[in-house]
Amino acid sequence: MIPPIIALLALTGPSLALPPSISTNSTLTLLKCLTTNAVPHVTLLSPNWAEYATTFNARLEYTPAAITLPTTPLHISHSILCASQARIPVQPKSGGHSYASYSTGGRNGILQINLENFNSIAVDGATGIAKVGGGVRLGNLALGIWEQGRRALGHGTCPGVGVGGHFTHGGYGYSSRAFGLGLDQIVGLDVVLADGRVVYADERENVDVYYVSAADAFGVVVNFYLQTSPAPPQVVQWTFSFPEALSSVSAAVETFKGVQMFALDGTVVDRNLGFGVTISNNATVFTVHGTFFGTIETFNSTIMPALLSRVPYAPANDSNTLIEEVDWITSLTLLGGAPTLEVPLHGSYFEYILKEGVRAKAPVSWFAIINLYGGPDSQITTKTEGFAAYSGHDDFWVIQNFPEHGAYLNYVDPTYTRAEAYSLYYGVELYGRLVALKKTLDPSNLFSNPQSII
Ligand SMILES: Cc1cc2nc3c(=O)[nH]c(=O)nc-3n(C[C@H](O)[C@H](O)[C@H](O)COP(=O)(O)OP(=O)(O)OC[C@H]3O[C@@H](n4cnc5c(N)ncnc54)[C@H](O)[C@@H]3O)c2cc1C
Ligand SMILES: *[C@@H]1O[C@H](CO)[C@@H](O)[C@H](O)[C@H]1NC(C)=O
Ligand SMILES: *[C@@H]1O[C@H](CO)[C@@H](O)[C@H](O)[C@H]1NC(C)=O
Ligand SMILES: *[C@@H]1O[C@H](CO)[C@@H](O)[C@H](O)[C@H]1NC(C)=O
Ligand SMILES: *[C@@H]1O[C@H](CO)[C@@H](O)[C@H](O)[C@H]1NC(C)=O
Repeated sequence: MIPPIIALLALTGPSLALPPSISTNSTLTLLKCLTTNAVPHVTLLSPNWAEYATTFNARLEYTPAAITLPTTPLHISHSILCASQARIPVQPKSGGHSYASYSTGGRNGILQINLENFNSIAVDGATGIAKVGGGVRLGNLALGIWEQGRRALGHGTCPGVGVGGHFTHGGYGYSSRAFGLGLDQIVGLDVVLADGRVVYADERENVDVYYVSAADAFGVVVNFYLQTSPAPPQVVQWTFSFPEALSSVSAAVETFKGVQMFALDGTVVDRNLGFGVTISNNATVFTVHGTFFGTIETFNSTIMPALLSRVPYAPANDSNTLIEEVDWITSLTLLGGAPTLEVPLHGSYFEYILKEGVRAKAPVSWFAIINLYGGPDSQITTKTEGFAAYSGHDDFWVIQNFPEHGAYLNYVDPTYTRAEAYSLYYGVELYGRLVALKKTLDPSNLFSNPQSII
């Protein structure tokens, strides 16, 4: 019997707007296989297609051959094997926040595996290890582990970002100087590989898979096992704005040098302090802002004077300078910039896109964010070279220029050629190891995007 979706495709015939880069034959092979194996999926003909196919970065839209909506690891295996049979590349999607829309392929005609149904969060009370589904959003993650025993993880600020892309490729937030990058907190993974096998990987078992999960396009992480920490009892949320710092190049240089001297001062700076510098042409803002795990009294008496004494200008005496003590969840909510950390699993996706995606589509001003990764007592720089396929543990500052970004896989930049991407994201040594692992783990290059290792 012909599965209904195939029949429909056959009836609509050549007028069907199939993605240009794939043949109808391979799409039909894929859809037939998905249907035979009862893998939930949507296609161009599904009424809710746009809802699933819309990219967060509205400037880079691509049309997948199909999108699967697995609810079990077996569905993921079948998605991968069906794509392999049809010779269609595969990319998983977690939060969909890839700057280059790589979860939608970075080109037309891929199979997207949408992980939105892998959204459970369970903290083991004895070890503090959280088992987290590959489709969980950061905001829901923070709320979930807070509710299950006041736990916390180091990660980025935007509640809608997914663990799938974020934790695998680094994952920085102000709390990373205390807890490490997202990936430093991964103690184990359940991964579906290119051959469809579901394996558990950690520092002892399937070591290569564990190591390579920090790179791109090696498998689909179904569950992360993340070592949580106790949430700090209170957080000081602080911002100093220096209006005179952008009055000239030398003023900016002197201000930044002052901030850097402060950042290196081990008598006041330890893992409890995380911060960054934002520079923007709009209202010529030079702000230094961050979080401190401690009380406002300690902040005011030690940290504030150490910073202000090094900067040649006084901070603005207005609402752009702000110091307040809040609880952990309030701190994350303020950093996230939305009224709540909760991200709807599905429903109001378009509302979200209109609020955030459209803003991303037409940047009318530029800004740069310079975050402190290293410095005294940073828990990011304590990780050894061999820990993961990630090359940024020794960074001091990490700079993002919008709309241009730096060479960190979570700030993936589609304008790089493959060769540039390899040298900037990984470096020569790491690249060599990744090529070898790709040959073993994904010899037919099933998981791929325009900058992934081949
Ligand atoms: C508004 C915004 C704010 C941000 N803030 C920060 C921040 O504060 N700190 C920071 O470090 N970064 C930040 N980022 C960057 C963000 O971490 C990356 O874009 C991240 O890769 C997005 O992950 P995702 O799961 O949402 O994206 P997706 O587009 O779903 O995935 C990104 C990449 O990871 C792959 N992938 C997704 N899920 C899996 C999985 N389960 N297994 C294997 N591979 C997978 C995808 O195929 C794709 O190639 C921000 C990005 C945006 C758009
Ligand atoms: C279509 O795909 C099937 C399955 O992959 C293959 O056996 C067949 O030869 C293909 N036909 C054409 C015309 O490419
Ligand atoms: C510029 O800054 C002002 C005041 O902070 C803000 O209201 C406005 O939205 C900003 N404009 C842009 C384009 O970001
Ligand atoms: C901390 O310093 C800020 C800025 O000078 C001030 O507004 C605030 O009242 C101080 N808080 C405490 C508790 O000392
Ligand atoms: C800051 O502004 C307030 C009024 O807005 C004023 O009372 C105070 O003296 C100012 N402080 C400094 C240091 O200029």
